[in-house]
Amino acid sequence: MASLIEIRNMCKIYNPGENEVRALDHVSLSIGENEFVAIIGHSGSGKSTLMNMLGCLDVPTSGIYLLHGSDVSIMTDDELSDIRNKEIGFIFQGFNLINNLTAFENVELPLIYRGISKRERGNLAREALRKVGLENRMDHKPSEMSGGQQQRVAIARAIAQAPPVILADEPTGNLDSHSTKEIMNILKNLHSEGRTVIIITHDNDIAANAERIVHIEDGKITSDSSNDGNMSREDIAREIRGSSIIYDSDIEENDKSDYDAKTDPDPEMIVSENDSERNAEKFEDDYDTEITEENNIDLHLNGDNKDE
Ligand SMILES: Nc1ncnc2c1ncn2[C@@H]1O[C@H](COP(=O)(O)OP(=O)(O)OP(=O)(O)O)[C@@H](O)[C@H]1O
Ligand SMILES: [Mg+2]
Repeated sequence: MASLIEIRNMCKIYNPGENEVRALDHVSLSIGENEFVAIIGHSGSGKSTLMNMLGCLDVPTSGIYLLHGSDVSIMTDDELSDIRNKEIGFIFQGFNLINNLTAFENVELPLIYRGISKRERGNLAREALRKVGLENRMDHKPSEMSGGQQQRVAIARAIAQAPPVILADEPTGNLDSHSTKEIMNILKNLHSEGRTVIIITHDNDIAANAERIVHIEDGKITSDSSNDGNMSREDIAREIRGSSIIYDSDIEENDKSDYDAKTDPDPEMIVSENDSERNAEKFEDDYDTEITEENNIDLHLNGDNKDE
């Protein structure tokens, strides 16, 4: 059976020419239905670039991407937007909720653009918010909720229409440890319901929740291992380092004296929020375009009693 996601020899080169950056360098990766995969790597290793490709938010310079057997590289912008809407639920580090809408309205908004009837989208939004434990917060606006609650609204928005793939870029990057645990439990539940969950993280503890850990370094996949559930962050660090002497050369001279490769977490796994923001902007474009060109947000707010 064909994999859900099949990437072959994918390259992404930014600024081709003298100052080119080879952000993905002949990456091949297959992900099947109902896998729970963590993609882990240093800052600048190519995680977000890979996430952009997986989420059809950007196109590769070369190589093949088959999603459900369809060749994504030859799709038009409209087809890509369509596939993002139907196939993928995005979760970003910065939540990316619309501030003047309630939790319910935030979850409902993408469903309006998918042409779902008012009754059905009400049911879907309520069910999704219930799943993330926010049935009592539906009328709250993002400013009236904690970071963890806001991320749960974002997850409800991502899962409302049951996309087969959940793609999360540093979803707990802005959260405390309690909220992180909650979010990871929700992602685990989504996985046990049958979704494919792909999470991008620089944190070995987060990666330890996944069943498979793919490590990316300098645009190349340097390890791809299964996790039976017993791997600690130290095991993961060891597994990653086993395949890589690169880490040492990555460390600034000044840092080397303080760094203990056996016990310390990778010092360079610092996430740039800009990447997460960039991805989120592209994702939001899907809705902005339609809000400005076709509808406008009043459609939702005014049309509640009238449509269908
Ligand atoms: N739009 C761009 N133009 C030029 N270079 C880019 C662009 N986006 C990313 N890069 C470069 O590509 C490489 C991979 O970047 P990417 O954002 O995928 O890394 P990352 O693993 O997500 O890092 P982080 O953990 O900091 O988010 C880096 O060297 C980065 O500077
Ligand atoms: Mg990134």
